[in-house]
Amino acid sequence: MSVRCDRTAAWPALHAHFQAEGAAFDVRQAFGADPGRAARFTFEAAGLRVDLSKNRWNEATLARLLQLAEDCDVMGQRDAQFRGDAINHTEGRAVLHTALRAPVGRAPFGDEVQAALAEMLAYAESVRERARAGHLTDVVHIGIGGSDLGPATAAQALSPYALPGLRLHFVSNVDGHDLAAVLPQLRADRTLFIVASKTFTTQETLANAEAAKAWFLAAGGTDTAAHFAATSSNRAAAAAFGIRHVFGFWDWVGGRYSLWSVIGLPLAIAIGEAHFRAFLAGAHAMDRHFAEAPPAQNLPLLLGLLDVWYRNFHGFGSRSVAPYHQGLRRFPAYLQQLEMESNGKRVDRDGATLPYATSPVVWGEAGTNGQHAYFQMLHQGTDVVPVEFIAVREPCYGFLPEGALKSRLDDQHRKLLANCLAQAQALLQGKTVEEAATEKAPTANPALPPEALARHRSFPGNRPSTLFMLERLDPATLGALIALYEQRVFVSGAVWGINSFDQWGVELGKALCNQLLPRLDSGDTEGLDASTAAALHWARGA
Ligand code: F6P
Repeated sequence: MSVRCDRTAAWPALHAHFQAEGAAFDVRQAFGADPGRAARFTFEAAGLRVDLSKNRWNEATLARLLQLAEDCDVMGQRDAQFRGDAINHTEGRAVLHTALRAPVGRAPFGDEVQAALAEMLAYAESVRERARAGHLTDVVHIGIGGSDLGPATAAQALSPYALPGLRLHFVSNVDGHDLAAVLPQLRADRTLFIVASKTFTTQETLANAEAAKAWFLAAGGTDTAAHFAATSSNRAAAAAFGIRHVFGFWDWVGGRYSLWSVIGLPLAIAIGEAHFRAFLAGAHAMDRHFAEAPPAQNLPLLLGLLDVWYRNFHGFGSRSVAPYHQGLRRFPAYLQQLEMESNGKRVDRDGATLPYATSPVVWGEAGTNGQHAYFQMLHQGTDVVPVEFIAVREPCYGFLPEGALKSRLDDQHRKLLANCLAQAQALLQGKTVEEAATEKAPTANPALPPEALARHRSFPGNRPSTLFMLERLDPATLGALIALYEQRVFVSGAVWGINSFDQWGVELGKALCNQLLPRLDSGDTEGLDASTAAALHWARGA
């Protein structure tokens, strides 16, 4: 039986532990006192290595957090997820994206899943054949949210594995500038449009799909069957839209967890069957780890518990993700939906208002770009923001022969890694006022008192970070990484006692938009608040 975290015995014990040593915990001192800390707080799973030692915790913290997980029956909730219980209780649905990446016989709905996967992969292969034969140059994927971020992020990350010569475009925004930027690059008879929408009712996607179809016909396209496909759990609506190739999936796949389903079609087209299967296998390996590893070694569990420790005890309101790999530049956006749509909830499973905080704000940017923008705040700002660094040891530039350019880029990769490690080191280490005072600062104003200047130039340090170490960014590793984040979000949601699998919070804005849309034509402001009414007048150019 799962118990809400604040009703467990572990919760007050954690509060007491926080008062006694958590609040003042200094990671630098912990390293000084314990030479084995880095090794003991580094964990491996499914080809990933994660160093959690630069965080504000110790074994005593971990023991209490693991007790919390036990009191909340996180592992029982995990088993219910894998079993296919209707844990998304507000929608009466199972949550079985794990079944999509499981081999035959390892998960519910195995036969259905394998048949759908085979059908999708065969189609992807036929599209690749058309591209190889020179009949297809562009694939335009139209979808939004979970029907965009997953495939867009993964396709970008795995671009060195993509079929050369076939361009992939992702159009998501209802803002016509998105589609307008893509269409001029296309030839109707050389383009495949994929319309991706679980519900096939999403305003943005349908608007873009209608516009794409109109453009296709106006540009001389004739064979819509050959040039449009859809991925949806609402096959009837996709067929009614006039699409013949419709690849279906099930209501037990949440939108933000749908990358592993037929929503992954553009990724499968780009990287081909073998790589797509490796991607699924990497995620499955992480699922097995989550299902089987002992709690004290279980990476999704440890990460989820660390999130709870930081959010509910330290009171940290956000977490920054810094992937030191250009291919992962969309990963923070992907994680925003994954984490904030899942755990941005304020009532428990019974609908009672929560007395504690849930999802942090998740944000970030690829390194090293972020360093030259917001890292100032991470190092010296008033808020402590735990940072997650993702480093990839081996670069992969796709086809690039040995030679001078390759050597230069390899050298740049060393610089990239050095930057990544240095940022984590700087956050931890800091710089005292005394240290700053002994240094020369060429650009400093000599008229300022030296002590004041030293304070401007000092760093508090003891700022927590986690380092994810990937040998390479290949399909299996990316699959494992995404699954790790998914399950970690599951863990914090399970501790908080919320439903991580619905998203009612997106509905009100959609409904109000539908009401405002005709008012943009009519100018009717009856019943609107004064600010919205004035904005409506402005939008009408009135
Ligand atoms: O508006 C939120 C949302 O429902 C997401 O959960 C989902 O991923 C996205 O919209 C797209 O929905 P669909 O795939 O049904 O078009």
